Amino acid sequence: MTPATLDLARIRSEFPALAAGTVFLDNAGGSQVLARVADRVRDYLLHDNVQLGASYAASQQAGERVLSARRAVAEMVHSAHDDEVVMGPSTTALIGTLVEAQRPGLRPGDEVVVTESDHEANIGAWVRLADAGVVVRTWRVDVDSLNLRLQDLDALLGPRTKWVAMTQASNILGTVNPVAEVARRAHAVGARLCVDAVAYAPHRLVDVQASGADAVVFSFYKVFGPHYAVMWVQRELLLSLPSLNHFFIGPEVIPYKLQRGNVNYELSYGCAGIVDYLRDVGTELGAVGDGRAHMQAAFDAIARHEDALAEQVLQWLRGRRGVRIIGLPSVTAGERVPTISFVAEGQPSEAIVRRVDAHGIGIRFGDFYARRLIEALGLQAYGGVVRVSIAHYNTAEEIDRLLGALEEAVA
Ligand SMILES: Cc1ncc(COP(=O)(O)O)c(C=O)c1O
Repeated sequence: MTPATLDLARIRSEFPALAAGTVFLDNAGGSQVLARVADRVRDYLLHDNVQLGASYAASQQAGERVLSARRAVAEMVHSAHDDEVVMGPSTTALIGTLVEAQRPGLRPGDEVVVTESDHEANIGAWVRLADAGVVVRTWRVDVDSLNLRLQDLDALLGPRTKWVAMTQASNILGTVNPVAEVARRAHAVGARLCVDAVAYAPHRLVDVQASGADAVVFSFYKVFGPHYAVMWVQRELLLSLPSLNHFFIGPEVIPYKLQRGNVNYELSYGCAGIVDYLRDVGTELGAVGDGRAHMQAAFDAIARHEDALAEQVLQWLRGRRGVRIIGLPSVTAGERVPTISFVAEGQPSEAIVRRVDAHGIGIRFGDFYARRLIEALGLQAYGGVVRVSIAHYNTAEEIDRLLGALEEAVA
């Protein structure tokens, strides 16, 4: 049986911004938003905007709505308990919160490992632990394969390693990292793993349990929702952390103790629209089983479609003289997401992007806050890479338009 494919016209009708004609290929910067997410935010603000926790009916109903959204997000990430799900403004802020809560538990001489290929969101907060005498070790990228090699990690792990921080997929290379294997190696020395899943979550169904990680964080504005984020933290670990909230909100009050002040009720409620959407796409594809089975079917079809589009771009780049793909040069089973970076010999990346701008196509250049990676690869001379980042709502025709523009833009 041939695998079910996405009904792209139907999919695109869920994203009103797509109708205006711009070709959005900067999706790893921020995706377009589902109408049903925006509708939910509006609906919440206009009908449920009361403070939670009171005894009157409207407050009870609003509380149930916000809680139902947390449950939906917990289901989406495969959290065993919905109170392991911490919501907050951004991935950067949530990782900062995790590190701050960890800080009192760390001693001078304890060690953390950060990678050279992460977005700074999952590096900077860990590096700042050096103020407390924590030793920060850097897992460097192998400049030939552009991979983070497991044998290089092994050389960095030791009895004093407390945390490894790594990305599940690089927002420049597109490479999917073997986080479950990293978790196994980190746990073997008594360390924990914090995974940045921002560049992964729009393309694959996040599974916090299968990841083996202790904390997994991503932002909804990359996954068809608003500027809002989620951090899953394994329950025993979460319970063991101190409260960063008011003194009367104790360490047992999870996840509230790490959600200072109120969460954003309307955005939380809106985010459940992403989960609805993924389930519905799975239903249309004929999925059977529970909600996650439907979401998995949706992501299976999303990955097949995105792989085909990514291969269209990669094939063009491979055939172009003077162009260097910064990442895996072709789509191989599950090893890359459709975030594609390149440089062209002798040409500033900015010049290429500006020429493409004129065609009504949104791509982007720079270091994408993975500055350490760009520097390690010596790509500052180009002003960073040109990045084309695909989402499942993109079409083969849009990629044809991009390639037509690149024919002119890449001299
Ligand atoms: C891989 C990755 N991690 C983290 C972030 C930061 O997310 P936020 O803006 O929610 O802090 C980004 C944003 O571009 C990203 O691409």
